[in-house]
Amino acid sequence: MKKKIMTVFGTRPEAIKMAPVVKQLIADEQTTPITVVTGQHREMLKQVLDIFQIKPDYDLSIMEKNQSLEQITSKVLLGLAPILQREQPDLVLVHGDTTTTMAASLSAFYHHVPIGHVEAGLRTWNLASPFPEEANRQLTDDLSSIYFAPTELSRENLLKEHHSADRIYVTGNTAIDVLKYTINHEYHHQVLDQIPADHRIILLTMHRRENQGVPMANVFRAIREVAQADPHLDIIYPVHLSPKVQEVARQAFAGAPNVHLIDPLDVIDFHNLAARSYFIMTDSGGVQEEAPALNKPVLVLRNTTERPEGVDAGTLKLVGTQSADVRQAMLTLLNDDQEYQRMATARNPYGDGHAAERIVEHCKEFLTKDIM
Ligand code: UD1
Ligand code: UDP
Repeated sequence: MKKKIMTVFGTRPEAIKMAPVVKQLIADEQTTPITVVTGQHREMLKQVLDIFQIKPDYDLSIMEKNQSLEQITSKVLLGLAPILQREQPDLVLVHGDTTTTMAASLSAFYHHVPIGHVEAGLRTWNLASPFPEEANRQLTDDLSSIYFAPTELSRENLLKEHHSADRIYVTGNTAIDVLKYTINHEYHHQVLDQIPADHRIILLTMHRRENQGVPMANVFRAIREVAQADPHLDIIYPVHLSPKVQEVARQAFAGAPNVHLIDPLDVIDFHNLAARSYFIMTDSGGVQEEAPALNKPVLVLRNTTERPEGVDAGTLKLVGTQSADVRQAMLTLLNDDQEYQRMATARNPYGDGHAAERIVEHCKEFLTKDIM
């Protein structure tokens, strides 16, 4: 009998990295996929669903402007309950570490449905950073029955927490699968085409809750100064729709002619812009995984990362959020060609682009063996 596998996701990064899994489930004749979106993000989720032509079976549409973590959690729990009741899935798949992820896991647990965690085992071991994601992923792993660890290191993290070895699979990260859909070497964009050939593009994203306020203002001050001193630089910043981020960004970069604040890009535009950039500055999780595969150095605007594989490989540099450190790191990458080349030619540690195939095979195996 076909196995019913329900995927639940709600934010931009979950949607991007679950899209290859959803596609694989749809293509697989032995599974019946059910796609549920919580709508924790609205516009940024829609961008992804449109690009991948995913039509959810259920949309909880929970987004409200500036809503609290409690609101997200309770709306996901209450919204999923009747769907789980009606659909009675064999397995629920969640992704990563958002509040949708954690609440959907709790909901599946309450309904006695086993959980498969995609991108399991990432850790900083610091509950304050990233907040609340570190708690979300630890809680999700506590409730899960089967783990899709993107790397060997994430597998080791799960073993340290005594999750059973025969339930953990190292699959690679589905973020790398997505690049096969998006990167196009013939890509052109009318705005990008207007940037003179002798200008260097720095792609910037920053949104984390623990960075909102002073840390963001410090980072933006450094970037503004470096940009002001070098008219051959173009900083492109697709600003997250969170009002708290919008406010700091608009204030910090007002009147800076070569810092371009734009709306969030769809994932095709974003990946191809990343591929055209000189380097990337970000506090995003997903961008830290994509950049090594695109041979782009990344200055990580955080003090900790759950993705140390990229730091060890040499592509990612943790620079924190102090203005002086950020300024120095930017100047080094702009002026020291040897250091630039070292970071730009590092190996991608996040997989071979076939993670989704492995994940679906392991799900079927798990459900056939019925080893819950
Ligand atoms: C969430 C995740 C974070 C993830 C990030 C990816 C939690 C607690 N945080 O953070 O782990 O890294 O998504 O982007 O789950 N908004 C819109 N339109 C959108 C999206 C957001 O207007 O399409 C605004 C809304 O006012 C919303 C606010 O942004 O209330 C914050 O969104 P929320 O999902 O709570 O947190 P993020 O900071 O986006
Ligand atoms: N991304 C995008 N458009 C943008 C900025 C980012 O499509 O304007 C993609 C990016 O390629 C990555 C994902 O969104 O796949 C990362 O999402 P985000 O930074 O919001 O969340 P995080 O990964 O930090 O949880």
